Order: sequence, then C-alpha cells, then structure tokens
Amino acid sequence: MLRITVLADERALARQEATRVADALKTKPDLVLGLPTGRTPVRLYHELGTLHSRGQVDFSRAMTFNLDEFFGIPPSHQGSYRTFMEQHLFSRVNMAPDRVHFLNGAAPDAEAECRRYEAAITAVGGIDLQLVGIGTNGHIGFNEPARELAGRTHRVTLKASTRRSNVALFGGELERVPIEALSMGMATILHARQVVLLATGKSKARCIERLVNGPLTPKLPASFLQLHRDVELVLDTAAAALLQDSQQLPAARS
Ligand code: F6R
Repeated sequence: MLRITVLADERALARQEATRVADALKTKPDLVLGLPTGRTPVRLYHELGTLHSRGQVDFSRAMTFNLDEFFGIPPSHQGSYRTFMEQHLFSRVNMAPDRVHFLNGAAPDAEAECRRYEAAITAVGGIDLQLVGIGTNGHIGFNEPARELAGRTHRVTLKASTRRSNVALFGGELERVPIEALSMGMATILHARQVVLLATGKSKARCIERLVNGPLTPKLPASFLQLHRDVELVLDTAAAALLQDSQQLPAARS
C-alpha cells in the first residue's frame, strides 16, 4: 500500500524523517536500518546528528546496511559511499563501527561479496526500515532502468546520467567516477519490513508521478515499490507537483 506525505520543503522533510528514525530506535534500539546516500538524505543525516548532540537519539545498538557502493575503489576512497556516510552520519552519531555494514567496492570477487552482503542481511533477521532515494530515471539504489532487474545484491554497470550525478564526489572529474557498482537488488529492498522513499525538488516530479500512477515496469525500477505492503513516499511540494491533478493529496505540512 503506497502512502504519500507531502511536506513544505527539504527542511520539514529532514525534521520529520529524523523524528521517525529516532522514534523507531526508541521502540527498537537494535533497529536494522537500510540507508541511501545522495543529495536527498544529507539534511536528514545532519538533523540526526543534531538530535544525537541533544541526547534525543541513540544509535549504539542500531545496525545499518547501505544500499550500494562504487566498485573498484576502496572504502577509504574520498569518493566512496562509505566515506560519504562517515562524513554525513556516522561521525555525527554514536554508531558502533562493527554494526555498520557496507558492500566492499574493493572486494576481489564481486559476486562473492554480493552473496556475503545478502547473507549478512538475512543473518540479522532482515531490514526493519529501509530509506531510499530515487534517481530522475526512476532508479532505486543502483537498480537502473533495464529490460529485466536483478532481484538480489549484484554488480551493475552505471548509466552515464548516474555517473554524472555523482561527479562531485570525484572532484568534478567524470572519468574518475567508477563505471561499475554493487547494489542491493529490488527484491532485497522489497524484503525490508518498511520502506520510506524520500524525494525533493522538481527534477523528481516526473518519476514520482510515473511511480504512483504508472504500470509496474523495469523501465522504472521504483515502480516495483507499489508491490510493498508498507511503503511511504515522503515528498516536498516540488517533487509532488505532478500528482496534484491525479491524486487526492493531503495539504503540504511544514
Ligand atoms: C544512493 C542511491 C541512489 C540515490 C538516487 C537519488 O545510495 O541509492 O539511488 O538515492 O540517485 O540521488 P539524489 O538524492 O542525489 O538525488
């Protein structure tokens, strides 16, 4: 069941979602969180840092699994998603390093690394709360539009547009952005008990409209979220702009 919440702006979204995570951790201190990188969750991660500095959120028993990682660079690389998470979240809260899980982009055997990650998720009983962003082409994680989608964690060749949108992590030099990545598959994501998709800005409006009103299609990997029983889209007004005509949306909250 797809639920939609529209908020006034990115700030309101970050605040609401930080409260969601903090409340979930109060209810279940050993919560298993699935996390995205990208521009969208940055404010949320900083907000969680602020809540932590006020003693309002405790990550000491939480566990995290990030959605994806570039392949061919080590975790310590400046452009890695591991480094991104360290900068924006893990260094700001009391995450225990051994409870942070990441795909290793420097693993010698990519397929074995993907199997290891799936097994690690299963071993902890699955993901409780999976946060995801969405690419303007409808990708989730690094599940790019294709004729068919991989179900489970897999190695993927990145689209040119996806490499371009990550260029800032690599000093603005496109040729330094890895060509491949490792990513949870759509089935891995859909097995999480709860999925929350965050989207802000008008560049996301078209894929959000297709996700809500369109058919299930591997051309828009996010459309498969329609199959999940507990999925919520949390949007700002710009990302929800094309829904206004076709959906009865709640008024935007600030
Ligand atoms: C990154 C990820 C991607 C991003 C998506 C949106 O871990 O999973 O699918 O969520 O590319 O990126 P932003 O938030 O930068 O628009």
